[in-house]
Amino acid sequence: MVLRLLLLYTMFALAQGNVHYYDFVLKEANFTRLCSSKSMLVVNEQYPGPVIRVTKGDIVYVNVHNQGDYGVTIHWHGVHQPRNPWSDGPEYITQCPIEPASNFTYEVIFSDEEGTLWWHAHSDWTRASVHGAIVALPNNETGYPFPQPDGEEIIVFGSWYKGDVNKEVAEDLEDGDLTPSSDAYTINGQPGDFCPCSNESTYRWQVDYGKTYLLRLVNAVMNVELYFAIAQHNLTVVGLDGSYLKPIVTDFVMLSTGQTMDILVTANQPLGRYYMAARQYDSVRSDVTDYDKANATAILEYRDNYTYSSTPIFPSSLPTYEDFDPAINFTYRFRSLASQNHPVNIPKNITTRMYLTVSVNNVIFDYEGTSKTNLAASFNNVSWINPSTDVLLAYYRNMSGFYTTDFPNYPPSFFDFIADDVSDDKTLTVQGTKVKVLNYNEEVEIVLQDTNVFDGSEDHPVHLHGYTFYVVGSGYGNFDNETDPKGYNLVDPPKMNTVSVPKDGWVALRFKASNPGVWFFHCHFERHISWGMVTVFIVKNGGTLETSIRDPPPYLPPCKSSSW
Ligand code: C2O
Ligand code: CU
Repeated sequence: MVLRLLLLYTMFALAQGNVHYYDFVLKEANFTRLCSSKSMLVVNEQYPGPVIRVTKGDIVYVNVHNQGDYGVTIHWHGVHQPRNPWSDGPEYITQCPIEPASNFTYEVIFSDEEGTLWWHAHSDWTRASVHGAIVALPNNETGYPFPQPDGEEIIVFGSWYKGDVNKEVAEDLEDGDLTPSSDAYTINGQPGDFCPCSNESTYRWQVDYGKTYLLRLVNAVMNVELYFAIAQHNLTVVGLDGSYLKPIVTDFVMLSTGQTMDILVTANQPLGRYYMAARQYDSVRSDVTDYDKANATAILEYRDNYTYSSTPIFPSSLPTYEDFDPAINFTYRFRSLASQNHPVNIPKNITTRMYLTVSVNNVIFDYEGTSKTNLAASFNNVSWINPSTDVLLAYYRNMSGFYTTDFPNYPPSFFDFIADDVSDDKTLTVQGTKVKVLNYNEEVEIVLQDTNVFDGSEDHPVHLHGYTFYVVGSGYGNFDNETDPKGYNLVDPPKMNTVSVPKDGWVALRFKASNPGVWFFHCHFERHISWGMVTVFIVKNGGTLETSIRDPPPYLPPCKSSSW
């Protein structure tokens, strides 16, 4: 065994970069926030969890020891894991849960990712407390496509729930009710000065005057998008979702849950203390659902000999909760670097086109003999139901009865999707475990169309596992397949793994299906995952060993329902 590991190590060290080992111990721990204490599941007693730090192309083995009370899986958000869906993590999609008192080692394979990514639990709502940042540094030959920063800082945004969120959500889903809103947002685990019982523990970031820092933002909140700004400091956005962007100078950013952003900040303001603040960007009609109005803050503080007594300045550039235009105008500015070291490779011979409506729905089902109506959510009016054995294993072993391959390319009917008065008969969705099968190397275009079904139009941050995609277009209204493609950016579109479908609008993305496997595709709002706004792509093998899914690891967490 030792010899084999040693051999593996040398092989990877030569061919692929370095190998790193981490142990993640999942265990309940006590935390006090907002004047009350609770126990929650975390990794290595930390909230947010430990940072994984690699250089581009490295391999990381993470042994996850579950010492908690329920089954959990971990996902490496934005890591493409070439040919290796076995370690991707979403429960019932690529594996069954790691049960209490057992462990599982993930092999996380980095390839072209560069920048900030993150990891999180991918079972029910456990990711509320089980998440952390991943830093993928450039290799020495290429370096950063901007001057080497003097330092760096990681900022992870989280959602804080005073209660036991997993328990509350399970009850709400059972009853078909709305899931809970958070009680505050956190910056590196702390809600900050504007929240009750919080100003003693506000997160502080000390900077030296004149230095430029690389700020790595991770939006790990559960159900919303966030605005973020630093008082009186410009932000230069240089990366998104582990890919570089042409620099964008701005005084605020908007990032969706799931997204990560790399930002240069120069400490060039008068010595003092400045708030860094985040608040929800709420695109839902406020008469439809309520939202968390907390302002999360941390303090940027210039290193100096005297102690500051005055209150920090709050960023006046931070848009307010329901400001729609700043969000959309900001996201329209994303452009790939498209340089020699960081080229673009945009699929131009599309063989599979999909048009997916994104809706919040009702579902009627039989509950102990009576018909019951619950909230649901869907792509193309199909609401996902998890199978009892994960899709990957069922696919790999040719086991039938766990999923069907009839996920539709188009919605069941076409109408004015963003109308104010979508009729009630449009709200119904069907439940199923329907996947979309793609041939190896197919070039795929997906247009995601928001809908106002149920008065539910809002942004939806949609995430694809195993890939990054190019966002070639985006717009307001119903997508027009004659005129809208004419406006596509096929020169320097941004590469992302999570894109926000704009409220009452659409977004078009493209990718080449060059990574065989079983890949989850879902809205990153946890409540929408729970309601079924989810599907799965199976990308077939390409016919050679190098274009096929790797062999499964010797041990996989067993599925309770199966006998293998
Ligand atoms: Cu960060 Cu499937 O998600
Ligand atoms: Cu959604």
